[in-house]
Amino acid sequence: MSESSDPQSGLSNLLHEERRFPPSEEFAAAANYSEQAYEEAAADRLAFWETQARRLDWETEWSQVLDWSGAPFAKWFIGGRLNAAVNCVDRHVEAGRGEKVALHFEGEPGDTRTISYAELQRLVCQAANALTELGIGKGDRVAIYLPMLVEAVVSMLACARIGAIHSVIFGGFSAQAIYDRVLDADATLVITADGGYRRSSVFPLKPVVDEALAKFEGDTSPVRHVLVVKRGGNDIEMTEGRDLWWDEAVARQPEQHQPEFFDSETPLYILYTSGTTGKPKGILHTTGGYLTQTAYTHHAAFDLHADTDIYWCTADIGWVTGHSYIVYGPLANGATQVIYEGTPDTPHKGRFWELIEKYRVTILYTAPTAIRTFMKWGEEFPSKFDLSSLRVLGSVGEPINPEAWMWYRRVIGGDRAPVVDTWWQTETGAIMISPLPGVTAAKPGSAMRALPGVEADVVDDQGQPVPNGGGGLLVLTQPWPSMLRGIWGDDDRYRDTYWSRFAEQGYYFAGDGAKKDDDGDLWLLGRVDDVMNISGHRISTTEVESALVSHPSVAEAAVVGATDPTTGQAIVAFVILRGSAADGGAEMVTELRNHVAKEIGAIAKPRQILVVAELPKTRSGKIMRRLLRDVAEHRSIGDVTTLADSTVMDLISEGLAAKGGKAAED
Ligand code: PRX
Repeated sequence: MSESSDPQSGLSNLLHEERRFPPSEEFAAAANYSEQAYEEAAADRLAFWETQARRLDWETEWSQVLDWSGAPFAKWFIGGRLNAAVNCVDRHVEAGRGEKVALHFEGEPGDTRTISYAELQRLVCQAANALTELGIGKGDRVAIYLPMLVEAVVSMLACARIGAIHSVIFGGFSAQAIYDRVLDADATLVITADGGYRRSSVFPLKPVVDEALAKFEGDTSPVRHVLVVKRGGNDIEMTEGRDLWWDEAVARQPEQHQPEFFDSETPLYILYTSGTTGKPKGILHTTGGYLTQTAYTHHAAFDLHADTDIYWCTADIGWVTGHSYIVYGPLANGATQVIYEGTPDTPHKGRFWELIEKYRVTILYTAPTAIRTFMKWGEEFPSKFDLSSLRVLGSVGEPINPEAWMWYRRVIGGDRAPVVDTWWQTETGAIMISPLPGVTAAKPGSAMRALPGVEADVVDDQGQPVPNGGGGLLVLTQPWPSMLRGIWGDDDRYRDTYWSRFAEQGYYFAGDGAKKDDDGDLWLLGRVDDVMNISGHRISTTEVESALVSHPSVAEAAVVGATDPTTGQAIVAFVILRGSAADGGAEMVTELRNHVAKEIGAIAKPRQILVVAELPKTRSGKIMRRLLRDVAEHRSIGDVTTLADSTVMDLISEGLAAKGGKAAED
């Protein structure tokens, strides 16, 4: 691995980055926001947010902007009433833009659908009527386990329209993960598909839902119905009385639906994300503040000009990026966008670029891991297509190394399109730190500074701001409209996780390390807790450890995130096997990798599993992951003086050396 292709390396070099990329004069002149936005927000932050909220349609305006008296539980736009789906769909139709394309859907096999805002309105109304017929009402939880289909967007909006709370579960997650989420949220309806397309074949979804629901004993399943979209054409079983085809239950419904308006703080959705324990956290978002900030940031960070731009966010709907920057932000802004079902290399490695040429995409939002993969594949793929329509490039999900940033700008953006590195989290709901493309002279690899209206800082362990040039922990120092309103069913965990570390200052602790450079611009350095970031997806070390020890052959397991040139981090597991299995061998390693995929999902499959005789522990029994990370990253091993038994690391290293320096890996 070369130094420069290592996304985590060379951090000390970051502060000496001299390159600056300001927007062209032409871009700056036409941009939605100028430097003035920072001044306005600084002068009166709450008034600034009110201006942003007024970009939406409210049935009743709020009487108070923010109530922080119940901190850390915020309320925004108190007394305001609105409907998120009406804001994302109906109001554009009413404004005479019904014929404007909302979604250009591109299926992996090459099938397409063009959905105008008027058509989207009909589809959402029909789905809302169907949900109502199935007994779903305000506050009920609906689990959505779908591929990237139009129906995924429609299902989310239909829930929002009737005040039901959606809980989208990424289509790559396992039956166990669905079971855990359905149970935690007490979901009464699951919306899924028979299967979806991935790498030219059909992967099953409904059978995984069946397996998940079969885990409920007796009649304890809260799920009354499963609504099934026909997509893959794969054979599935339908349980009489419980399961219904979307085509039958939804298509016959009236195309009109009278919306209700809900209080601004009405829950909109729950989205589960990994924390530092084995149990995922149900992040709760509500309506008015969330929609305000997703719409504003989509307008600001991407400089969206809804009448002319064609926007494409390559995220999956199962992650927060799909929620905020495929569904709520872009649709609230009346954008025209591309949604794509499949992978970037099917049927060929130029598929993304082909789609950009085909739809004349102007704004692209993707992840560093994808950019690094494209770099690896080579410039010949993008160079075959006309990418001259692109005018803004976004990055999200993990730190983007300067080399990838420069490649993105040069090869994809033709050295013309500004790159915006956007930092945020499932918990923040919307972008917090990002350049403004029409204002910022961006530095490769830096998310630059907080957007107007957002207050962020880097502090030391005591909560004191570090000076320029210093490093520390990223905090958010003021509440923001799209902030999480809690963890579903677990207020204590919400307080502990985010608000206890800097309780005295009242800061939100993001869990990320960051540096301020000499100009005060921010450089995100990755997680400081036991959360890994694999291809921009959060997975906790404990979650993977629990999955491993649930296998009968595993006595103990320790998991670390090791630097990986493509995926940012990769999962490396150290396991101690039981008795007869103790020798390990390639077969056992394969079995364990598959076991983790089955327990959590394919994204959590360890890149590497090392069978060891002992794990390094402190005298109090805590596993020293730092040392394991040294091994996983092929570094010389750091300070071992706090180990209970300092010979353990020698044993691990010797064991690895005996295997030719390479552990069992497939
Ligand atoms: O570590 C940060 C990293 O991703 C985490 C949030 O993950 P998740 O909730 O899954 O949301 C991902 C999409 C918003 C953060 O704590 N992260 C996200 N964006 C960036 C980033 N790290 C560095 N730079 C970014 N632009």
